[in-house]
Amino acid sequence: MSGTVPRDLDAFFTANQSRIRDELFEFLRIPSVSARSEHNGDTRRAAEWLARQVEDVGLKATIHPTPGHPIVVGEWRGAGSDAPTVLIYGHYDVQPAEPLELWQSPPFEPNVRDGKIFARGSVDDKGQLYLHVKALEAHFKVRSRLPVNVILLAEGEEEVGSENLAEFVEQNAELLRADSVVISDSSMFAPGLPSILSSLRGLAYFQIDVQGPSVDLHSGSYGGAVVNPAMALARILATMHDDRGHITISGFYDKVRDWGETARKEIRALPFNEKGFQHETGASALGGEAGYSALERLWMRPTCEVNGLLSGYTGEGAKTVLPSKAMAKVSYRLVPDQDPSEIERLMHAHVERVTPPGVTVTVTPLHGGRPWRADLGGPLFDSARRALAAAFGREPVITGEGGSIPVVGDFQRILGTPVLLMGFGLPGENAHAPNEWLSEENFTRGLRAVAMLWDELGKN
Ligand code: BES
Ligand code: MN
Ligand code: MN
Repeated sequence: MSGTVPRDLDAFFTANQSRIRDELFEFLRIPSVSARSEHNGDTRRAAEWLARQVEDVGLKATIHPTPGHPIVVGEWRGAGSDAPTVLIYGHYDVQPAEPLELWQSPPFEPNVRDGKIFARGSVDDKGQLYLHVKALEAHFKVRSRLPVNVILLAEGEEEVGSENLAEFVEQNAELLRADSVVISDSSMFAPGLPSILSSLRGLAYFQIDVQGPSVDLHSGSYGGAVVNPAMALARILATMHDDRGHITISGFYDKVRDWGETARKEIRALPFNEKGFQHETGASALGGEAGYSALERLWMRPTCEVNGLLSGYTGEGAKTVLPSKAMAKVSYRLVPDQDPSEIERLMHAHVERVTPPGVTVTVTPLHGGRPWRADLGGPLFDSARRALAAAFGREPVITGEGGSIPVVGDFQRILGTPVLLMGFGLPGENAHAPNEWLSEENFTRGLRAVAMLWDELGKN
């Protein structure tokens, strides 16, 4: 039997539904695109807007500058030293909205269609972060206090690799000391099915630059006698996998932890249809490492992907040219216990080994993040199960995730605090893509789940 959301909190959300939505829309209208320096002013404005909201709700808010985008911290410690302390994390930055012509409504003008809030950042992560702010407000407005002490940490650089956050966490470990970390920056496994994440993959991201001749050459006068950097790059990239989809970098799998048969059984028990998943992507077939199902490939196996490629003539028609350089963006998704800096070392050695003579190759690391796997025991997860079951009317499932949230591994490493990831996105939500959306219903239920979570945790 699942419990119910406390009546007073539920009534608050019902009474304030349209105001809360209007405020979220204000947040979504700020184009806080962290990757683009022309949006630096907007990104700062989003931090200031958020800090003011956090302050209005009843927390003490501070904006910490970094060499990149600012970090917003909110604090309320009125529950007393006997009560647990929770650290809420989220990010107020968003991905670039391009290609703009594919949006059905402008990315920074929130638009509701079919029960979905369309806007860049609606689900990733402004909507989910804002829901936490409003859950705190509910407690303060209805009861003038919270059952737990709260620290809210919001960054503006998650979508560009959280470059400055690990250092901030290290230097402010005392300020951030908490019993639990709670994050809503992920998705539910299926509509109506609340989900708790048990894992995230890490990331090691590189740019490979291949330099051949000092200028572009006539491909007839020089081709065949001068090494072509585009072909050299293609050869280098082709060495990354063998024909069973296994990554060939020596030592790459040394730290990969085996999840065991129990975890694989749990994955198989989830309601997942590989054919449906394939159709959703529009690809003609699925592919990947031999011996693993799609969910296993996504959650428990590492990958190597080309994210971008650039060389030679790519305009209209044909141009007979031997390009002087070629470039690729290449990233590895990592799984426990792979370490991004170790992967960097192995990657450098591998590229050096496979580079053909006649070109010069540079590998530049762009960003990285540690993988993470949860220990799903204890009061934090029991409380989350109860709160999600009450708000969604259904017991949550435990799922894995192929994406990354770089700071999660840092929280584990630096603070040693258990992390709960309960997200309210949905499959097909178009995160990072045109027409990103957040389900209104999930937003509404998510507010209640989070507000109830604080009650449940306060009982411990
Ligand atoms: N919220 C996502 C991570 C995520 C994706 C969680 C899908 C659950 C499901 C996050 O904002 C993100 O996009 N992370 C980047 C990290 C990178 C830019 C360092 C990612 O995974 O590519
Ligand atoms: Mn996110
Ligand atoms: Mn994202």
